Amino acid sequence: MSEHHTERLFFALWPNKVVLSELKQLSQSITQGIVGKVVSLENLHITLAFIGNVDVTIKPCLQQAAATVQIQPFNLILDQIGYWPKTHILWLSTHHIPELLLHLVTQLTTALQDCGYHAQQRPFQPHVTLMRKASRFETVPIINPIRWSVQDFCLVRSTTLAKGAHYEILTRWDLS
Ligand code: 2AM
Repeated sequence: MSEHHTERLFFALWPNKVVLSELKQLSQSITQGIVGKVVSLENLHITLAFIGNVDVTIKPCLQQAAATVQIQPFNLILDQIGYWPKTHILWLSTHHIPELLLHLVTQLTTALQDCGYHAQQRPFQPHVTLMRKASRFETVPIINPIRWSVQDFCLVRSTTLAKGAHYEILTRWDLS
């Protein structure tokens, strides 16, 4: 009998070095004084499609589907801080979701259907989680916008370690 193991996978936008250094400053200033778990720098990202725990044999299908995506690079302006009280998540997002980001998610999730993936019913809300288990957050600060030149997207594996989630980029696809 063959034994297959599962992996927790998702597609994401991963910040480049320039964006990451700006995210670092922003995260430090925003999360200061708030009780909660600050997301470590190496874990900051925007989820495009959450696949969840799947049998590893599905991975080639996911990768082939992702390779069919045809979207040009685009700019994303991160200019909005918010808080979801139900999940206690403090996030960074955008007031203006680029059309190309929506097309990217639509193309990707449509292609992924061939691998048995079903997009979630809730609308796509692109965000970078800055803090989990955040205590109440009432004053929404004005921030210096971060301009992210999005050039690629990736498939990521999540593993849970004693110190928390560890994310590993498995494959990257350039936008063109
Ligand atoms: P979050 O940052 O809003 O918690 C890896 O776990 C990534 O997938 C995280 O960015 C997380 O979003 C997202 N994620 C985890 N579980 C999810 C789910 N059930 N539906 C959608 N996204 C999920």
